[in-house]
Amino acid sequence: MSADRLTGGALPLDKAPSRIAGMFDAIAGRYDLLNTVLSAGLDRRWRARAIASLALTGRERVLDVCAGTADVSLGAAAATPGAARVVGVDFAGAMLAKGHEKIVAAGQTSRVQLIRGDAMALPIAAASVDAVTIAFGIRNVQGTGEALRELVRVLRPGGRLAILEFGLPQAPGLRQLYQWYFLQVLPRVGRMVSRHGGAYSYLPESVGAFPWGQDFVRLLSDAGFAEAQSRPMTLGVVYLYTARKP
Ligand SMILES: C[S@@+](CC[C@H](N)C(=O)[O-])C[C@H]1O[C@@H](n2cnc3c(N)ncnc32)[C@H](O)[C@@H]1O
Repeated sequence: MSADRLTGGALPLDKAPSRIAGMFDAIAGRYDLLNTVLSAGLDRRWRARAIASLALTGRERVLDVCAGTADVSLGAAAATPGAARVVGVDFAGAMLAKGHEKIVAAGQTSRVQLIRGDAMALPIAAASVDAVTIAFGIRNVQGTGEALRELVRVLRPGGRLAILEFGLPQAPGLRQLYQWYFLQVLPRVGRMVSRHGGAYSYLPESVGAFPWGQDFVRLLSDAGFAEAQSRPMTLGVVYLYTARKP
């Protein structure tokens, strides 16, 4: 794999919903373990920062799009103060099944519900939620603009958005080290543990081809969000994007 794969030089990636859902279904059993191992446990902190940015008061209805195994959904429900209700939406049934097991184990079935659906056509009424999250999901959605406009549609006016997505550290030295880790180490460990040929090569390819920082902030503004901001975390490995519906 060349460094081009991390800087957007490769051909457009196939993000057909059936391909993406199939890939996440195939790795669902090892997804949480790999998250912890490959991020050295930092993923929990990134999600906690995203949830904290919503400034929940205990009354909100939160929508967690691309919910996967429900870590953000559960985190928003368990925060103090947390969400009154959380609905998680994802199109990969095996990821949701794992998430449901965790919701049952956490005793949160009355507050957290998971629904199968596509981020580009959310099964959620207009202006019906107070806050929306997407953690490490928007990069995988075939139509970024379509999905962002869906988020605007379902949020009530003034409602908050928090998106987590990978970036690429730019500091000299660190950039090269990170590229080596992301292109050489992560796909090998991912392939070994998940036993899936492509999912953890797709990860760096999709990150390299996706806008981050101010470029993604512009997409949020174009979709109709106000007060869009980006905050790098862990030296730019991950960005937290926040915005409001006007
Ligand atoms: C990297 S996982 C992130 C899961 C979870 N949010 C987390 O923080 O661990 C990306 C998730 O997005 C889901 N996804 C990707 N595109 C989607 C779409 N168009 N509609 C619904 N879910 C989608 C995948 O099925 C997968 O579960």
